[in-house]
Amino acid sequence: MMEENICELELRAILETSNDNIVITDGKGKVLRSSPNCQSIYGLKIEELIGKTVDDLEKMEVFSPSVTKRVLREKKEIQVMQNTLTGRTVMATAMPVFDANGEIIRVISFSHDLTELRQIKEDFEELRVKMEYYQSEIQELRDKEQYTDGIVLKSKEMSNVWQLIQRVALSDATVVFLGESGVGKNVFARAIHEKSSRSKEAFIEVNCGAIPETLFESEMFGYEKGAFTGASREGKPGLIELANKGTLFLDEVGELPLNLQAKLLKVIQEKKMTRVGGTEPKQIDFRVIASTNRDLAEMVKEGKFREDLFYRLNVVPITIPPLRERKDDLLQLCEYFLGMFNDKYRTDKVLHATTIHEILDYSWPGNVRELENLMERLVITTENRIIYPSALPFHQRNSHSVAYEQEEEEIPEQAENLQEALQNVEIRWLKRAYRQYKTTYEMADYLGISQSSVVRKLQKYGINS
Ligand SMILES: Nc1ncnc2c1ncn2[C@@H]1O[C@H](COP(=O)(O)OP(=O)(O)OP(=O)(O)O)[C@@H](O)[C@H]1O
Ligand SMILES: [Mg+2]
Repeated sequence: MMEENICELELRAILETSNDNIVITDGKGKVLRSSPNCQSIYGLKIEELIGKTVDDLEKMEVFSPSVTKRVLREKKEIQVMQNTLTGRTVMATAMPVFDANGEIIRVISFSHDLTELRQIKEDFEELRVKMEYYQSEIQELRDKEQYTDGIVLKSKEMSNVWQLIQRVALSDATVVFLGESGVGKNVFARAIHEKSSRSKEAFIEVNCGAIPETLFESEMFGYEKGAFTGASREGKPGLIELANKGTLFLDEVGELPLNLQAKLLKVIQEKKMTRVGGTEPKQIDFRVIASTNRDLAEMVKEGKFREDLFYRLNVVPITIPPLRERKDDLLQLCEYFLGMFNDKYRTDKVLHATTIHEILDYSWPGNVRELENLMERLVITTENRIIYPSALPFHQRNSHSVAYEQEEEEIPEQAENLQEALQNVEIRWLKRAYRQYKTTYEMADYLGISQSSVVRKLQKYGINS
């Protein structure tokens, strides 16, 4: 076979099998040959392409811009992105073929369809944006779930309670909070409301122990105009009516006298009430949350609390444990309240390590409320920046103040003269300060001397080594 024929066969094989689209033009940009797959990206058959110049094809918008034109102009290999008549995006690379005189006799271009790739890139981008959106949404939901609004829940006991609260908040079930005074029953009752579907509606708090018996009905049910002497002219809605669509919180429900318990039970059961002096009963939609520091079951036994009301309320009982049973909350509560009152009174108080020890040892009969009140009092009444244990109302001179005691033993009380005795005392104080504080400024504050004196004395006695 003639050499030329073999070349022709080789070229044809390349054109037919190449994945890229190949177009060959002469030195004037007229198409001589093309791979058959060009039709898929240019929309023209080979016969339609051949014989046309790249100029013609560009004018027909078969592709633009023409890479061959640039090669002819710039006489070097060029790469461009093209858009084609069929709406595809193509990466075209073209190179010149020179003759012996350096004239371009051919331009060969290879085009690679990037439409799919671009599509994938766009889809990917779209997905990425969506992902970002979902991620922020998830974060928001998580934050919301963990959003405890200044409620300390460090201990295992309280995180269990909190989990239960989150679960029941989603239902409309009646909840009764049990626990000693000051453990946070009101705080958690409100938290349930805030986390429930009723959060946008009213949270009406009824202090059952504080409403006088004679006013109970008019307060709870409201009254129509002229219902009794002294009744306002327009009439007035009661607390239950105000709780419509929201939550009715029956605080201190154990304080309610028996006859009022019966009236309360009736509205809770029927979700219907009539204003004093009114005739039309109204349908009211409210969720009941109750709370008490009394032992309701015991009161039922003693005949002081209606059994039927007890069972009405006792659907989901949640007991908040007293503070002495959840010491793990103490430290964080101290920090929380200290921060709160430091902000409020624009102070910068800190608790001495021994003060913290004594707080942890105390039994806290008044629970969180007692701790909160104590922190406020300490912030207001102490003079130094550091709050010493002696400021605690339950501080006992000989209680096991760990840090103090250790030190008393450390330095033997032997001195030749007064000078030496005084030095011993000074060393003891310095060592104590050195152990308890991180900076010489804090030590100075504690010792009541200047910071430079602290530095000097530490060096003098070699304490900082
Ligand atoms: N976990 C907590 N984190 C932060 N503050 C709390 C927490 N629990 C209670 N408190 C605070 O302690 C104080 C007492 O709480 P609350 O009034 O809810 O107690 P209570 O159980 O309803 O008491 P009582 O039985 O006397 O009505 C409130 O000022 C409250 O903000
Ligand atoms: Mg309360």
